Amino acid sequence: MANRICISVGAETNEKVISEIKKCSNADIIELRLDYIKNPNLKSLLKAKKPLIITNRKKSEGGFFPGSEKERLKLLKEAVKLGADYVDIELSSGKKAIGDLIKIKGKTKLIVSWHNFKETPDAGKLSRIYSDIKKLNPDLVKIVTYANNITDNFRVFKLIKKAKRERTEIISFCMGEKGEISRVLTTIYGGFLTFAALSKEKATAPGQLSIDELDSYNFKHLDSKTKVLGLLGNPVKHSRMPAIFNSAFRKNRMNYVYLRFPAEDVGQFVRNFRKDDNFYGFGITIPHKEEVMKYLDYVDLTAKKIGAVNTAVKRKGILIGYNTDYVGAMKALEEKTEIKNRKVVIIGAGGAAKAVAYGIKSRGGNLTILNRTVSKAEEIAKSLKCRFGGLDELRNIDYDILINCTSVGLKEGEMPVDTALLKNVVMDAVYSKTDKDGKTKLLKEAEKRGCVAVSGLKMLIYQAEEQSRIWTGKRILLG
Ligand code: ATR
Repeated sequence: MANRICISVGAETNEKVISEIKKCSNADIIELRLDYIKNPNLKSLLKAKKPLIITNRKKSEGGFFPGSEKERLKLLKEAVKLGADYVDIELSSGKKAIGDLIKIKGKTKLIVSWHNFKETPDAGKLSRIYSDIKKLNPDLVKIVTYANNITDNFRVFKLIKKAKRERTEIISFCMGEKGEISRVLTTIYGGFLTFAALSKEKATAPGQLSIDELDSYNFKHLDSKTKVLGLLGNPVKHSRMPAIFNSAFRKNRMNYVYLRFPAEDVGQFVRNFRKDDNFYGFGITIPHKEEVMKYLDYVDLTAKKIGAVNTAVKRKGILIGYNTDYVGAMKALEEKTEIKNRKVVIIGAGGAAKAVAYGIKSRGGNLTILNRTVSKAEEIAKSLKCRFGGLDELRNIDYDILINCTSVGLKEGEMPVDTALLKNVVMDAVYSKTDKDGKTKLLKEAEKRGCVAVSGLKMLIYQAEEQSRIWTGKRILLG
């Protein structure tokens, strides 16, 4: 069975629910949230053509059922009697209530569920909850927790693998933004289904993805052999990389998926990453490009010289780091201009500047680095043997190519240098999130003045193409 998608439907009236059900053509299963409906009419609702999970959540489990516990359970019983495909009852409903449903369940499959909206318990507690549910003999176990940390997901993956070994059907994932990876990956480990909403506004639980979002990860095509990649950073929410990579994987029919890894603790993430065989590689962005190096087994010589890693891959259990930023930057620049013997000014002296400076020197450019904190520019200049100075010096320098490697411009409309100083070729390592070509204000101003503009988005795409070669053995065209 291909990966199942369950669309959760909740609306105030029976009519609205029925019309929502009609929109669920992409669902394999539909969860009907009775707790959203005023006076649910089970008989008519159960006529739906798709398999249904009947759920009636109480408030303490994230639901809205307004009546008494007795009334809540009565509705579940009625659903069983009417032959619903699946009925979900919470572990907290108690042994007696669950036992009563099991006695009469007939062909209905019973899901016994446990939710935690605050956290993901430690592995021992998760395992105890799982055993407690299993002892009740349901058809499916459902354990859903909340991820406060990206590494919480790995505990849930382990639980799913255990259930699979024991041939127990399980629905399990983490809620919340940091739990997104588990919603996408649960079925590759053996999870019975994942939930989705018809649209983001209609989500019935924190972090629930819309069906389109799930589709953008090629969810239906993922399996136990899928190699998992992603972007490690903080924040990574608005990155364009998942969309770019996943659409390329779809076009090229490659069994990879690219997710977001929003991690604060890099060491903890890498430890978990190593232990999971499906996790294969990751890109690294702000602020982890330097820190990540100490957790890798081997760092390629160029990345070492640059002092930053933006790509990691696990080969035969060994974690190797590379830097593709400079390759991307040089390719984007070389499309528009020669570099050899040209006078190049880089402003900024952080991770991006180091990679671009390395590239310029390796291509024989005549380099000057200017930075707000002059000592940082001096440090790079020493190792690359080039000139350095403060930002003010730009007005006294005659240059052919100017490259912005400061973070100024990340906020729309910011300008890192005085417009009057722009000339010849201007490149920005930063790209605009709103402009289709990624052009920042700096680049737009440069173009107005007749300069050649090189966009940070091009740089990003070319460095990603180099990453694709490292991860898949084949350079995929992403631009
Ligand atoms: P990245 O990895 O993207 O290079 P970074 O290492 O944090 O990010 O570096 C940010 C760069 O932008 C630094 O050169 C920083 O200057 P300082 O070294 O003086 O901090 C520069 N930068 C950030 N905000 C700036 C501002 N408002 N004006 C000028 N430079 C700025």
